[in-house]
Amino acid sequence: MIRVAIDGPGGTGKSSIAKEVAARLGLEYIDTGAMYRSMGLKALREGVSPADTEAVEKMLAGTEIDFNDNHMYLDGEDVSGLIRTNEVSMAASDISKLPCVRAKADALSKQLAATKNVIMEGRDIGTIVIPDAEVKIFMTAAPEVRAKRRYLQLLEAGKPADYDQIFDEIQKRDYQDSHRDYHPLKQADDSVLLDTSDMTKEENIEAVIDLIREKTGEEFAGLHAVSE
Ligand code: DC
Repeated sequence: MIRVAIDGPGGTGKSSIAKEVAARLGLEYIDTGAMYRSMGLKALREGVSPADTEAVEKMLAGTEIDFNDNHMYLDGEDVSGLIRTNEVSMAASDISKLPCVRAKADALSKQLAATKNVIMEGRDIGTIVIPDAEVKIFMTAAPEVRAKRRYLQLLEAGKPADYDQIFDEIQKRDYQDSHRDYHPLKQADDSVLLDTSDMTKEENIEAVIDLIREKTGEEFAGLHAVSE
């Protein structure tokens, strides 16, 4: 089994890097942030406040989440295209504080990592979800760099973008994700820190592949041959 855990704050490019590495190496890509986003989306839709633990628990009792083939399903609906807004980002960060929410995402994440060679990214993969992953990476980039990347991404997509607002949101989510009481974002002692501030996307992808090669050696060579 090869399990690659990638953690780090929002906007570091973890998703696009992990997705590309997965495609090149024949690993299954699992986006755990999408699980929190889908529960955040449901809370927004139903007007459930993340501050009301009881109401969230009640909501979750009737909620089914699944992640399959790069798509996020909420109660059977493919919500992949609906969960990438700023509003849902904050709702996901807000609701992810609650142990009942984390338990639901953790259960699904652990189940997915148990049977497949995965590259899984989030905030607590190397610390809580797969602490014994073969490869553990903590990916960071300066907040200014992350804000600028996001700003350019939005402009390229022809969407409205305000750098200062993006920067503020990044700072707020960083603080919230790393200061919550339960399973906060933090680097696992045995993970490798990868600062991508000065890397291009291709350099970042290669750095992750090099780390996987370095950590898995022979085992990885077999996997790679199969995927090619
Ligand atoms: O990675 P992302 O931006 O899609 O994550 C959205 C939010 O979900 C993030 O702000 C915090 C939460 N999250 C988490 O608490 N634990 C994870 N493993 C992944 C995401």
